This record gives sequence, C-alpha cells and structure tokens, in this order.
Amino acid sequence: ALVSAAEMLKNAREGKYAVGAFNTNNLEWTKAILQGAQEANAPVMIQTSMGAAKYMGGYQVCVHLVEDLIESMGITVPVALHLDHGEYEDALRCIELGYTSVMYDGSHLPFDENIELAKEVVAKAHAKGVSVECEVGSIGGEEDGVIGSGELADPNECKQMADTGIDFLAAGIGNIHGAYPENWAGLSFETLGKIADITEGIPLVLHGGSGIPLEQIQKAISLGVSKINVNTECQEVFAAATRKYIEEGKDLEGKGFDPRKLLAPGTQAVVDLVKQRIEWFGSTNKA
Ligand code: G3H
Ligand code: ZN
Repeated sequence: ALVSAAEMLKNAREGKYAVGAFNTNNLEWTKAILQGAQEANAPVMIQTSMGAAKYMGGYQVCVHLVEDLIESMGITVPVALHLDHGEYEDALRCIELGYTSVMYDGSHLPFDENIELAKEVVAKAHAKGVSVECEVGSIGGEEDGVIGSGELADPNECKQMADTGIDFLAAGIGNIHGAYPENWAGLSFETLGKIADITEGIPLVLHGGSGIPLEQIQKAISLGVSKINVNTECQEVFAAATRKYIEEGKDLEGKGFDPRKLLAPGTQAVVDLVKQRIEWFGSTNKA
C-alpha cells in the first residue's frame, strides 16, 4: 500500500541518506520506478507534475495505477505517491483522491500568501495522514511550464515555512530544473548550511537533481538533504535507448511494431538509472 513520505524522509534525514523522488509520465515509467526501487530494496517517491497527471488521465488514474501496480508487481518497499509543484487547488484535490504526499508550491507568490496557503494545505493534508512539501526561494529553469527565477532562499523565510508544520522543505540553493549550463556556479552550500541550521532537522528537498555531480549530491545530503527529485535524466536515458533501438532497425525485425517491444529498451534504461541514483543517494537497502 502507499505510505506518506513523512516517516521515510525523517528516517533518511536521521540516517544521512536521501530518498529518490522520480517523476513519472505513463505506465512504463511507473513500472520502471517501482521495479528499480524494489530491486534496490529502497523506499521511493513516485511523483507526478500537474501536467504529467493530466496526460495520464487525471489524478485518480495515477492513484489507481500506482496502487494496483504495487499489488500486481508484488512491491514490498515503501512507496509514496507525491504531487510535484502543485498549485493550491491541485494539492487539495490530490489529498482527497488518495495521493499520500503533496507539494504545494507557492514560491511564486508573495511570501505571506505562500505561508498562509501552506498552513491550509498542512491542516487538510495532515487530517488525512498526507505529507506536505513547500518551497521557499526559487528553483531556476523550467519544468512542465513551471518557470523559476533561481533566487536563493532566505534562511529566515525557510524557518517561518518550516514552522507552519510542513513535513519537508524545498529551498532554492542554486539548483536548476533541466540541464545545468556550462557556467553553473554549483550548489550554494553556504545557503544550504544556514537553512539546515535554522530549520532544526526538517528534511530538505533538492529539486533539479539531474546533472548534479555526485560529490555535490553527497555534500548536500550530509547537510540535510533527504529527498532528491529526478526527472530530466530519466527522460534523457529513455529517449536515448528508444532512439538507439529504432535507429538500429530493431523495430523492423519480426513484430517490431509491437508497442511493448518498442518501449522496452527505454523502460529498462529508466530502471537502471533509478537503481543507480538510489545507490548515489545512499538509500539502497534502506527499505
Ligand atoms: O520537481 C522535479 C525535479 O525538481 C526535477 O528536476 O528535471 O532537473 O531532474 P530535473
Ligand atoms: Zn522541481
């Protein structure tokens, strides 16, 4: 069964590792993420952006899909289904429909408004045992139409947000959605350290996990990062493996037009990446 992410991230924070939060888009990715986590014996978060959930047929479809796959695939590791970068209404809807974790992202709003709405989401979510993530500052780049300025989070604002009762906190620390530019300055560990000090043990979330070098990932975990979001890298390996399969003409052999065959190499590439990132994050065998 699906579980809230509160407990798994608390354990991660205390155990100094991070749980991988992988974005899904369809049946194949959802199976790949579950399989990767099961093979790694790791707790995992499957997350949908608002756009991906819409693409998949809506939030209720996502809930049923993940619940039924956990059952039919015999998944025994803890799995949380999480709304990624949700607007207020979407967060409430996911809480109603059976998501076990939601991100309410009010980082584009005036800070006071972000705090007020965060409190409302927390009250509604916690009444149903659902965990809550909120964001302060801004993640750079763009994801699924959500555009961020990349502004570093203010540690005092992080403290105020942590005090609303949210379960984990996303803060802008120089991280960027999508590919990192050549001249990227790296994560701001100074900002991250200040945020960790002032927020007293709340699990921290690192967005834009794709393309961050392993040493920076490890340092971020040592400073309190307990959830790492990965989306773009899954898309890259899926696309590359699918392209290779087709360019090699494999789709033309026998019943190559069978969609189950066409999608298999990309799906396996996502399984492999999920396992490798879980290893990087230190959550292998932490189920
Ligand atoms: O919210 C999702 C993540 O922050 C994904 O970022 O596409 O750079 O891995 P990424
Ligand atoms: Zn993000």
